[in-house]
Amino acid sequence: MKFFVDTADTAEIKALAASGLVDGVTTNPSLIAKSGRNILEVVAEICAIVPGPVSAEVAATEYEGMMREAAVLRKIASNVCVKLPLTPDGLRACKTLNGEGVMTNVTLCFSAAQALLAAKAGATFISPFVGRLDDIGQDGMELIADIVTIYDNYPNFETEVLVASVRHPIHIVEAAKLGAHVATLPPNVLRMLYAHPLTDKGLAGFLKDWAATGQSIA
Ligand code: E4P
Repeated sequence: MKFFVDTADTAEIKALAASGLVDGVTTNPSLIAKSGRNILEVVAEICAIVPGPVSAEVAATEYEGMMREAAVLRKIASNVCVKLPLTPDGLRACKTLNGEGVMTNVTLCFSAAQALLAAKAGATFISPFVGRLDDIGQDGMELIADIVTIYDNYPNFETEVLVASVRHPIHIVEAAKLGAHVATLPPNVLRMLYAHPLTDKGLAGFLKDWAATGQSIA
């Protein structure tokens, strides 16, 4: 399973990428706004930190505008993945960009029918938002199960399931059990994956016993 980080905070991305476990980055207009920076500058900086796909989202809502914005975004770096909303115009732009060999991430997916359309449009990634579904009392993980099943039924679909709107480590574990290809994690959730109280307790015990030996390895 690939791990992307869901942030436009370059200091966070640098720190997390040092682990060697970050395969890509996702941003959206809200995350760019939160960074307080220019989208072109911040995306360029992220692309230089992480060699994997870096999603940068269009802000236009009609096809021609999306294509104009995509032309600007794709020029930033070869690892830019153009993020498009799951609308008729977004999917049309997805289909065109796919034909031009540009990576695409179709975002704001809330149903299996929408995911089916995105795969037919040749999306590189489909982003179902599990947390936002949970928030309204629907089971976000059920949507992941449905999409994985549907995509598995059609081996010619190349779209990868990118689990988005992740809120906690259980989302990641459940998504991995279902075989989702990618999850995009807010930095705090990625850090939470490492944590277990028995690891901390066990390490403290080992260090105490080791100190008592008076030995050193290097
Ligand atoms: C995905 O690409 C989105 O940027 C993100 O996961 C949305 O998450 P949110 O529901 O926490 O805003």
